[in-house]
Amino acid sequence: MKKISLTGIKPTGDLHIGNYFGAIKPALELAKEYDARYFIADYHALNSVKDPKELASAIRHVAAGWLASGLDPEKVIFYRQSSIQEVFELTTMIMAFTSKGLMNRAHAYKDASHKNIEKGDDMDAGINMGLFTYPILMAADIIIFDSDIVPVGLDQMQHIEMAQDIAQSVNANYKQQVLKIPQAGIQENVAVVPGLDGRKMSKSYNNVIPLFAPEKTLRKTVMRITTNSQSVEEPKDPDTSQIFGLYKLFAERNEQDKLAERYRAGGMGWGEAKEELFGAVNRRLTPMREKYDAIMADIPALDKILEQGAQKARPIAAATVKRFRKAAGID
Ligand code: ADP
Ligand code: TRP
Repeated sequence: MKKISLTGIKPTGDLHIGNYFGAIKPALELAKEYDARYFIADYHALNSVKDPKELASAIRHVAAGWLASGLDPEKVIFYRQSSIQEVFELTTMIMAFTSKGLMNRAHAYKDASHKNIEKGDDMDAGINMGLFTYPILMAADIIIFDSDIVPVGLDQMQHIEMAQDIAQSVNANYKQQVLKIPQAGIQENVAVVPGLDGRKMSKSYNNVIPLFAPEKTLRKTVMRITTNSQSVEEPKDPDTSQIFGLYKLFAERNEQDKLAERYRAGGMGWGEAKEELFGAVNRRLTPMREKYDAIMADIPALDKILEQGAQKARPIAAATVKRFRKAAGID
């Protein structure tokens, strides 16, 4: 039997090239050798996105983004988290096996409460229970589909460890393997994609290159990358330039070597370096953007794909819940 790979992306904003190289592309690589189950984590997004139009549109955006990036819904079970009621049943069941202390130690909650304390506010100001219990819902997402491997960025490692802890507590209590213990698939070779300002590309830093923006916007965004004040003549170090760092993601090895030479030789200004980057990014993203636009032009067809995925996912989820209920004495 093939092993199972599972991951989810929250629909909380526009997908950017950090999401593509850090999450979508490696997950699609894994889908070649694993049975893949990839989903839109819309209930996780509800913690922060309270505008219904915005959430509905972000769900379609992320779904179309996966498909335009090459996800084949015939091969990958592709669905919305909110379509699988059993996920919420399992969430409640595993709550009984999750200590509150474990949630107190979750990074996202700790960061939010520390920020409150620093500001002199009540430590829990503005923090909803969805944020506090976020790792429990995520554990249910993972465990319910008997996942072997969960491809995620390093920032999600703690969540995977919590899912392992929770599943182990359940198994230990019933003295049988009720739930499969998942492993994190941290992509060692996927570097952190730098943003326009050199920090990690992230929508929270407002420094992203969007994946599906129209060509004009893409060009404007690339031109916004911050640079130092080196003159055109000065030789430049490709290894410390985030423009070159981004270029490497989009260009072949020989193109990279050629451009690195031009950086080192001097005579190429940052404007020209950005033009080279824009050309490479645009060549790669244009076919994806065209696919994305075509998918977004037919939302009912997109929703149908997600619903068909949900239909495949539900029986698997139901079997896990049934196993748990039986072990727990509530079947
Ligand atoms: P953001 O930081 O923009 O809010 P998310 O936290 O929603 O992005 O990330 C979704 C996925 O994309 C995660 O698996 C995360 O590890 C990956 N990811 C996000 N930004 C980057 C980046 N700059 N480089 C590599 N991977 C990234
Ligand atoms: N927490 C993940 C993120 O912020 C999204 C997510 C929700 C997820 N449920 C998941 C990822 C289950 C992997 C498996 O990126």
